[in-house]
Amino acid sequence: MDIHQRIDTAIRRAITAGQGGQAAPRQLSEALLYACTPGGARIRPTILVSVAMACGDDRPGATDAAAAALELIHCASLVHDDLPCFDDADTRRGKPSVHRAYSQPIAVLTGDSLIIMAFETLARMAPEAPERLAPLLLTLARRTGMPHGICAGQGWESEAQIDLSAYHLSKTGALFIAATQMGAIAAGQEPEPWFELGARIGEAFQVADDLRDTLGSADSLGKPVQQDVLHDRPNAVHELGVEGAVARLTDILSGAIASIPSCPGEAALAGMVRKQAERLTPGLTPVRV
Ligand code: IPE
Ligand code: IPE
Ligand code: MG
Ligand code: MG
Repeated sequence: MDIHQRIDTAIRRAITAGQGGQAAPRQLSEALLYACTPGGARIRPTILVSVAMACGDDRPGATDAAAAALELIHCASLVHDDLPCFDDADTRRGKPSVHRAYSQPIAVLTGDSLIIMAFETLARMAPEAPERLAPLLLTLARRTGMPHGICAGQGWESEAQIDLSAYHLSKTGALFIAATQMGAIAAGQEPEPWFELGARIGEAFQVADDLRDTLGSADSLGKPVQQDVLHDRPNAVHELGVEGAVARLTDILSGAIASIPSCPGEAALAGMVRKQAERLTPGLTPVRV
């Protein structure tokens, strides 16, 4: 099974467990799956599983649960982010956003349910690696809520003055930090040495996202573009120009690769970071960093 299939299986298993049977409300049950499949690039769980594999992946069940939990949180954040009270986006991943396909109440509840389901998914794997459960739960909680998680990141958008680095670190960086640290924890390693890699990948992802928002098309991305201008949000391309933003991306990526802690699968992990960067900005990112 390749990494993508492994992640997909783990996500589907978590959702099926959370959907319940006939007794559960039908629309909400359906919307849970709709919000998470067929999915996007699955970049965060891919990083998580790659880090775990680089560290030996001695409890694959813990890695699978962590990867599914992280992607469920990400999908929940997108469902809420698309709501009219946030970005009011009609499409996501090439299909109607959850509130357009169902309704706003169902979209709010889908996001809420997925967040709870993420933590439940982690708790369920406890028998496999009991001593790894608490650090996994804490790391995911920290990077999801306040004051360091995506809730904080979204919260910055309601402030008159934005602290740009806190905004990016919590909105985009948080789940990448969770990815590298949870990958390490799932494989029995300390999370601290993995902070920098997650933070740098998050920074690179933000610049890549700014490039896609400016240069991409709604058709190819499956979601609205030019959103940063529309919502008057900071964007690296507006600040640095296209060439400047690409140079910045290359810079951050070499820093990311240099920061990989020494581990048995270090070289393969560096290869994965390069591959993901190339996938995010086809033709723009020099991959030999
Ligand atoms: C989109 O994330 C949200 C941001 C943080 C910019 P992705 O680009 O990873 O979305 P999917 O999961 O691949 O659709
Ligand atoms: C949404 O960020 C992702 C979250 C952190 C909740 P954006 O609003 O910038 O991303 P897109 O363009 O909708 O994917
Ligand atoms: Mg948003
Ligand atoms: Mg948005």
